[in-house]
Amino acid sequence: MSDESANAGPMSTAPAGVVIEGLHKSFGEVEVLKGIDMSVEPGQVVCLIGASGSGKSTLLRCVNRLEDPDAGSITVGEFDATHADVNLDAMRQHIGMVFQQFNLFPHLSVLENCTITPRRVLKHSREKAEAEALHQLDLVGLKHLAQRRPAQLSGGQQQRVAIARALTMQPNLMLFDEPTSALDPETVGEVLSIMRDLARAGMTMLVVTHEMGFAREVADRVVFLDQGLVVEEGPAEQVIGAPTQPRTQDFLRRVLNPLGK
Ligand SMILES: Nc1ncnc2c1ncn2[C@@H]1O[C@H](COP(=O)(O)OP(=O)(O)OP(=O)(O)O)[C@@H](O)[C@H]1O
Ligand SMILES: [Mg+2]
Repeated sequence: MSDESANAGPMSTAPAGVVIEGLHKSFGEVEVLKGIDMSVEPGQVVCLIGASGSGKSTLLRCVNRLEDPDAGSITVGEFDATHADVNLDAMRQHIGMVFQQFNLFPHLSVLENCTITPRRVLKHSREKAEAEALHQLDLVGLKHLAQRRPAQLSGGQQQRVAIARALTMQPNLMLFDEPTSALDPETVGEVLSIMRDLARAGMTMLVVTHEMGFAREVADRVVFLDQGLVVEEGPAEQVIGAPTQPRTQDFLRRVLNPLGK
């Protein structure tokens, strides 16, 4: 670790890059990740695409060590995520994660959902945490719903709360695992546009998605994963618009035209 990183406090919001090398992960006999090499430059957006079961969620979960890799290395900013001595609590404070199923606390208000972690983990006062939460809720257009419970919101609104909640921790990296897959079609756009704004603001983002339009417009790079290996990667325009590998071509054909010709 450099001197600079040692001085970087938990509220440092410089975007953090991710470097993954030789990542292997098995569940029992099943090898799910078979040697993944990929990276996300600080401030860039990488979309991870691939068929169901190809290992996308497992890869994402290894980055913040919700899964323990079997081999390989992952660095997140200045953190060596796979080092035995890594301070996981400190590292995870810098990483926001948004899931398909929102994972909001149903018994807490929107505002309480957004203040509980800054209060408990960052030890912020109620006033400071609420001010920051209301600021983030305002940015996703939901400040006026701060007193509601999650069940009183649409899916799209709940996912926007989940994004605001993650941002209250001032992360340097955001991980998204199919954030729009559980949404009604008419609310997908409102979540994608929040993500696009976040990308434009310079957040480093690793996004598992089937939204090819979003990937094409927002991603700096697209990585296609198949059966635990990176089969193709490159600029979004190239991987989605003109893939060179037969497996990428086949996958995109099925995603873009599910009923076939
Ligand atoms: N905790 C676990 N225990 C055992 N097997 C698991 C576990 N998590 C994932 N797997 C298996 O690993 C493989 C990859 O799963 P993963 O969830 O990473 O795929 P995915 O690409 O995210 O798929 P999807 O698009 O359906 O979300 C699957 O075969 C899955 O059944
Ligand atoms: Mg998944």
